[in-house]
Amino acid sequence: MEPRLVLLSRGPELYSTRRLATEAERAGWMVDIIDPLALTIVVDEDGGRIFHKGWPVECEAVLPRIGYSITRRGVAIVRQFEQLGVIVLNSSQGILRSRDKLVACQMMAEKRVPVPITAHVGAWEDTDRAVRRVGGTPCVVKSTEGTHGSGVFLVNSFQQARQLVYQMLERGMRPLVQEYIEESHGSDVRALVVGGKVVASMRRKAHGSEFRSNFHLGGSVSKVDLTEEQESIAISATETLGLELAGVDMLDSSRGPLVLEVNSSPGLEGIEGATRENVAGRVAERLSYLYECIGSENKEADADTNESGPEKGRAY
Ligand SMILES: Nc1ncnc2c1ncn2[C@@H]1O[C@H](COP(=O)(O)OP(=O)(O)O)[C@@H](O)[C@H]1O
Ligand SMILES: [Mg+2]
Repeated sequence: MEPRLVLLSRGPELYSTRRLATEAERAGWMVDIIDPLALTIVVDEDGGRIFHKGWPVECEAVLPRIGYSITRRGVAIVRQFEQLGVIVLNSSQGILRSRDKLVACQMMAEKRVPVPITAHVGAWEDTDRAVRRVGGTPCVVKSTEGTHGSGVFLVNSFQQARQLVYQMLERGMRPLVQEYIEESHGSDVRALVVGGKVVASMRRKAHGSEFRSNFHLGGSVSKVDLTEEQESIAISATETLGLELAGVDMLDSSRGPLVLEVNSSPGLEGIEGATRENVAGRVAERLSYLYECIGSENKEADADTNESGPEKGRAY
């Protein structure tokens, strides 16, 4: 019987969702695209189960595409699948770490993955000191949580930095003050990492006078070959956060590549278009590989005990 894959996504029509579903089907998976918000979790002393429209969800693997606005709810669903022993790509922990720019920076810095000098400001009165620590103005002020470039500002004065920090704290956001990597000239490099390997990479260039190179802000993309250093940094960043699938954004600085951000639900449209690489196919291959690993582990376990226990990796 074909193994079943649940693609957790709110947008079945989105390019990435469609591509992942198509390639997984091609690799022999039976794919079900389910809106994570349409799932119900029931927990009792025997553990937990997940229901969709009243029916238990049974599958061998889950591919979460959890949008920023539903991170907490989505991660709870992913965690439940993990507890059921299903293959999950990416894990709930990995998703959470990548969604918090401060946590990601802290973890990477600990593992000596190079990152821009970043300060987390707890009180707005500390803003000037933080700006000086990251090298003065211009500098970048951003929120720990955010995507598509919203909540990322280039500031030219201490007053502007104080104002932004104040406003973010007022709104319950956690502001970061970061050194501005001017040498990168509004461009960054995105490496798509799947199963510990870089499978595609592109350069993103900001549109016009914009300094943010996000695709969603009209940035242009082109294929790029990574240096060995960039490749190994991208892989280390992904490993450090515990991700199987990641879009690692790096800036070229005068002291080498710096990891700006690691995305756990990277969009595929820009990178597949720019590089002509079948990234979704590589994700499907990785899922199949992980599934086969579980199958051979089970066979070994059966041979050891000489009896057929419940299969690992099965939801129920
Ligand atoms: N410290 C920085 N120095 C130079 N450019 C930056 C810096 N921080 C962000 N940028 C630019 O802004 C874009 C968005 O910032 P990022 O931190 O990745 O936020 P988001 O999560 O919203 O994409 C980056 O892709 C990069 O082009
Ligand atoms: Mg980004």
